[in-house]
Amino acid sequence: METLDWSKLSFTYMKTDFNVRSYYKDGKWSAPEATTSDKVEVHMAATSLHYGQTAFEGLKAFRGKDGKVRIFRMRDNAERMLSSCRGILMAELPIELFEETVLKAVKLNERFVPPYESGASLYIRPVIFGTSEQVGVKPADEYAFIVFVMPVGPYFKEGFKTTSVVIYRGYDRAAPHGTGTYKIGGNYAAGMVAGERAHHEGYSAVLYLDAKEKKYIDECGPANFFGIRNNIYITPQSTSILPSITNKSLMQLALDNGMKVEQRQVPEEELETFEEAGMCGTAAVISPINRVDDVEENKSYVISKDGEPGSISTKLYQQLRAIQYGDAPDTHGWVTIL
Ligand code: PLP
Ligand code: COI
Repeated sequence: METLDWSKLSFTYMKTDFNVRSYYKDGKWSAPEATTSDKVEVHMAATSLHYGQTAFEGLKAFRGKDGKVRIFRMRDNAERMLSSCRGILMAELPIELFEETVLKAVKLNERFVPPYESGASLYIRPVIFGTSEQVGVKPADEYAFIVFVMPVGPYFKEGFKTTSVVIYRGYDRAAPHGTGTYKIGGNYAAGMVAGERAHHEGYSAVLYLDAKEKKYIDECGPANFFGIRNNIYITPQSTSILPSITNKSLMQLALDNGMKVEQRQVPEEELETFEEAGMCGTAAVISPINRVDDVEENKSYVISKDGEPGSISTKLYQQLRAIQYGDAPDTHGWVTIL
């Protein structure tokens, strides 16, 4: 702990003091309990291992100048996890239990919340999965819910710098009536091949098009997409993307700044018109995009001519971070102070 260099953290697993767990059995969730072990023992025929009954969340806690710890939009993550449970027929995780477990995990690991000056944060990873055996394809009777935390720096090693993303027409992440709106393991498994290829080819992420028509922008592997033109914040509406809490927050901040917001289908060609574009998410925060390559079509959309983040993305990034760290007033009630 003494040797932790907060300013050099990346987005990698680190064991902290405790994780907090609750188990679903006989139709009831147990009271959350802390443990120091970061291992789990599950039945080899658990539904999570075979049939993908598993979902997760990602949220963050920030230490302010005043020393207080603030958790950002915890209720929204609780609601999305409940929606994921319903989406793949897992036991429903009550909102209050989600919040209680998250608060306990952060409190017990408070010494891992990075200091204000570092610009780092505590990433909170709740995960839920089917634990009981089921060889026929059916939902499990028993589930585990675990919340662990770790101090993190930027998800993309570049931080708030522009990177390039890539469109590959040969891969889909989620189908129009599939599971893309849920934060479930299967969506990330579906994106592994394209994601790794993108990294090997020098891109920070894949930008997926809608799976049916290959016409509209969906989202990136680990984050939503937005573009900016004429003081309008434009972001895809789609039945196959994750409803990002960061994106929702940026839309609100854009409105607060007097911008217009359009959430609608975004044709790929519109990339030509964007003055700025970015990926957004809890881990990514805002990660500005300088170029989008559509490799099969042999097209390249240059968004940032000088390779620098645009002024509106920069302002939105600063405004979001200011609320998260308690430097700006929490006018929308997004923050829970520990
Ligand atoms: N889209 C995907 C596929 C993600 O994994 C994430 C990360 O959570 C997001 C979007 C961004 O969502 P949020 O802003 O709620 O973290
Ligand atoms: C997040 O932003 O919290 C995510 O879950 C994205 C990624 C690490 C999958």
